[in-house]
Amino acid sequence: MCGIVAYIGHREAYPILIKGLHRLEYRGYDSAGIALIDDNEINVYKTKGKVRDLEHFTESKNINGKIGIAHTRWATHGEPNNANAHPHYSETASLALVHNGIIENYTLLKKALQEHGYNFKSDTDTEVLVQLIEYIKTSNNCSLFEAVQSALKQVIGAYAIAVIDKNNKEEIVAARKSSPLVVGLGKEEYFVASDVTPIIEYTNKVVYLNDEEVVLLRPKEQINIVNLNNTITKVDVKSLNMSISQLEKGGYPHFMLKEINEQPKTIIDCIRGRINVEATNVILSGVIDHKDKILNAGRIIIVACGTSWHAALIGKHLIEEFCKIPVEVEYASEFRYRNPVINKGDLMIAISQSGETADTLAAVQLGKEKGAFIYGICNVVGSSIPRATHTGTYIHVGPEIGVASTKAFTGQVTVLTMLAMTIAKEKKSIAKERFLSILKSLKSLPELMEEVLMLDERIKDLSKIFTYAHNFLYLGRGYNYPLALEGALKLKEISYIHAEGYPAAEMKHGPIALIDNEMPTFVIATTDSIYEKTVSNIQEIKARGGKVIALVTKGDKIVSSMADFSLEIPDVDECLSPVVACIPLQLFAYHIAINKGRNVDQPRNLAKSVTVE
Ligand code: G6P
Repeated sequence: MCGIVAYIGHREAYPILIKGLHRLEYRGYDSAGIALIDDNEINVYKTKGKVRDLEHFTESKNINGKIGIAHTRWATHGEPNNANAHPHYSETASLALVHNGIIENYTLLKKALQEHGYNFKSDTDTEVLVQLIEYIKTSNNCSLFEAVQSALKQVIGAYAIAVIDKNNKEEIVAARKSSPLVVGLGKEEYFVASDVTPIIEYTNKVVYLNDEEVVLLRPKEQINIVNLNNTITKVDVKSLNMSISQLEKGGYPHFMLKEINEQPKTIIDCIRGRINVEATNVILSGVIDHKDKILNAGRIIIVACGTSWHAALIGKHLIEEFCKIPVEVEYASEFRYRNPVINKGDLMIAISQSGETADTLAAVQLGKEKGAFIYGICNVVGSSIPRATHTGTYIHVGPEIGVASTKAFTGQVTVLTMLAMTIAKEKKSIAKERFLSILKSLKSLPELMEEVLMLDERIKDLSKIFTYAHNFLYLGRGYNYPLALEGALKLKEISYIHAEGYPAAEMKHGPIALIDNEMPTFVIATTDSIYEKTVSNIQEIKARGGKVIALVTKGDKIVSSMADFSLEIPDVDECLSPVVACIPLQLFAYHIAINKGRNVDQPRNLAKSVTVE
């Protein structure tokens, strides 16, 4: 989704801003732009397309300036074109602004400004905001900072903004509400960005802005943050523990492939310090520190979106099996708008890779207002959801740049397994032998994942046979049903082939009508407690001439003899099967997308971090 980068200090801003925009490309966008102050003029350059198009566009232009703001736009109001790209000028071109989020009351504000003689060059809500700031600044004869504060009080909606004034190249004003913004603190220089990826190259000292905070950045002065009511906020400087190499491709052609291959390592990071096989223990401090609230929860509600929602479905299975607590899984976007029943004493778990998904954050806020205790399972340290929850666990899989989520999914399922085990052990609701066997399986995950990654060449060959399929069905049962949904999502996200995931037995209630020799089915048929049932479902497909790719447990004879193609994965406790079995599904989607020449890391229309609802 939209990305902001801004810089003020002693260096040339252009290279920092362009590099920062490249780092934010993974979020998904359709146009890009930059504004720099030179000689008391703001030069704005913007274009539809990619950051490299912006670089070509600026080749012979004046790109001087030690202060600037830049943006990648993911269209909401108005199509992706040059006029709607950010930054936007104010009426007299004395201000320029970049914005993430949505100004909901922009039509009313625009009408009022038009009545005061303001003209608009774009269809965006953002242009309304910069015009409003200029209007207030001129009519009240106040500072940019005061004008921003006052304008934001009139705005309904979500925003992260950075504004510059051509008459003052010594300051940037930025603010946030419901859309992330972080400030990097250098030596007599400041960086602003939607997330830390454009900043870590320059400094590891950052300040995350909170909702309704406005920050004034002057290179020779201390950072100054106040809220919309002018109350000064205590500056909470955090130290980042992330390296640039984590953000680069490390020899792989795509981030997605790198992230798929990283999974054995990221699972080690995820379980490190949390499981102890010798002491036969699992320790999630988020649970242990809030035992009373968590163990006594009468009900658990898990809220999430996209891939995180699929992990949540596996979480439900794990928690209900091990802890005997009823669990409901909700799409955060639906949950927040249907006045859900939340009782004091309910435990809400919010799962989000980015920690910034607007719907999930809103569901968390709703849960909190209604008295639930909130547990976050997130990846991005310091992001909005972990800050809004009472406690939680980071999955610690490192930055995920490919838009299609891969290593975050396996990290989420692994944390959910450890969460269920910790609660179950405390509640004594799990048999000791079962607990120990899962503990061993957890420990062996990285090794098993390495083994599955060796299937890559075989999957690559298989992908060639199915590159031109128009539809795909994915089936699984039990723990592997959510995995069928995830496999289908991966394929459609990056290859644009229509794919559906179903619980295998549901096939006969509809999807079976689609089966013929042009409709391939990917069945996850590992040896588990309902293996025989899945075998029957495969027979139903074969009887109708459907092609079957089956994911089976090593040594399987029955399914392998029925399926057209089979892929063997090592045996693992069925509750952890999705962590291992998802790798072939990820690789299959990846290779098909490559065969089709798709942009796997930045698929069309998708955003990595969905900060608008
Ligand atoms: C977007 C991403 C998905 C992700 C979903 C939820 O749609 O493209 O990969 O699963 O958002 O994101 P979250 O950061 O909350 O897990």
